[in-house]
Amino acid sequence: MATWDLERTKHHVLICNGSTCMKKGGEEVTQAIRKVISQHNLDDIIHTTRTRCNGRCKDGCVVIAYPKGTWFKEINETDAQSLVLNHIMNDLPSPKMVYSYDETFCLNEGEKIGVDKREPQKQKKS
Ligand code: FES
Repeated sequence: MATWDLERTKHHVLICNGSTCMKKGGEEVTQAIRKVISQHNLDDIIHTTRTRCNGRCKDGCVVIAYPKGTWFKEINETDAQSLVLNHIMNDLPSPKMVYSYDETFCLNEGEKIGVDKREPQKQKKS
């Protein structure tokens, strides 16, 4: 990580390390993403930060990538290479994209952006 010299930093990747995402492999996801970044000498370009809960536990493990503010869901360690090289570095779409602040991003028809962030057992029965 090159946080002392941000001149080359182009992407900031937030990796959810909240308790639910950690139960869904958050540590492995964190290590796998950081390993891909290092293996491809992208440490100066991509900065990663572990976060607490991002409020979308049902989507865990959640990863958010800036500058586009793209939210990814259900990321596991096998997604790390594709996430870093295809989606973050090369802007290719991913079925694991939930939302992006980038105006060119489109959801699949019928897909909802909002989710109930509570665990299923705590949600009201309707
Ligand atoms: S613990 Fe990751 S979104 Fe809640």
